[in-house]
Amino acid sequence: MREFVAGLPKVELHVHHVGSASPVTVAELAARHESDSPVPADPQELAEYFAFTDFEHFLRVYLSVVNLIRDAEDVRALTWGVARDLAGQNVRYAELTVTPWSSVRQGIPAEAFCEAIEDARLAAARELNLSLAWCFDIPGEATLNSGEKTLDIALRQRPAGLVSFGIGGAEVARSPYRDIFAAARAAGLHIAPHAGETTSAAEVWDAIRLLRAERIGHGIRAVEDPSLVAFLAENRIPLEISPTSNLCTRAVPSIADHPLAELVAAGVPVSINSDDPSMFSTTLIDEYVLAGQMLDLDKAGLADLARAAVRQSFAGDWEKSIILREIDEYCTSLDAGFISG
Ligand code: HPA
Ligand code: ZN
Repeated sequence: MREFVAGLPKVELHVHHVGSASPVTVAELAARHESDSPVPADPQELAEYFAFTDFEHFLRVYLSVVNLIRDAEDVRALTWGVARDLAGQNVRYAELTVTPWSSVRQGIPAEAFCEAIEDARLAAARELNLSLAWCFDIPGEATLNSGEKTLDIALRQRPAGLVSFGIGGAEVARSPYRDIFAAARAAGLHIAPHAGETTSAAEVWDAIRLLRAERIGHGIRAVEDPSLVAFLAENRIPLEISPTSNLCTRAVPSIADHPLAELVAAGVPVSINSDDPSMFSTTLIDEYVLAGQMLDLDKAGLADLARAAVRQSFAGDWEKSIILREIDEYCTSLDAGFISG
């Protein structure tokens, strides 16, 4: 199964820039900034540093790694490394969540930040057969002002790969961000906020009603409200699911308690994603294999999961059709018998 998933053309819809930095990259950055960073440079110690006691602890550690990114060259190298890791898993298209305000606050000019990620995007298309797209997200743990700043960067810089706008980090109330999201929407950006990862179904409702979310990051708490589950299914609002992330941040106590199967059985559209693969010692391939076990899927079912993610993506129709055809061709080349949807 693993081999099948590894070769399957895939898209990744929920993966964070910094959370995808390979342990080697993080260790190098940590060694460079040893004097003023708690992040260990030793690989063994780094693995222990990435063992999280809960979601708050995860965020503290995540932000300490964000703090290691000090200049545009770091951003360029980080983005290229992430692209290489994704392409190595046969990912054809990825929406990478980047948090420009964290870098701008660190002293990297917005223009330089956008230039660095765009350089990596163009190189990935040219050299890795990988299309990258950006989701600019607001760091929830910062003040509302960080939302305005993130919007301002998105609208002023408008890098060519930018497709969507979100909010992550601490799960603060979404309602104060309503006007900011309305402006992002008016500027033609898709809306894909994190919501209901560790909080409640009510926050998912707010993300839909107030922010007008088209997709929800995590959203697993939706399962607590049957009317919301029905709404997501009827209105085809997908959840971006990352089972290992939810386990590592203790958003769920165990994989057996994860609501993925219940949500899928209720007809909620889902995609499978890695979120912060390096910090959770996972890959997109691992997440597909795990989701396959959780949903009791055969190869045809796994290919359908990959197709669903393509359809839910913010890629253009032409790009979607190319990846869907690649999935079909991959399945046909292995066994003409298991083509479906
Ligand atoms: N949730 C919220 N914020 C994040 C996450 C996440 O899973 N990963 C990186 N920042
Ligand atoms: Zn996330």
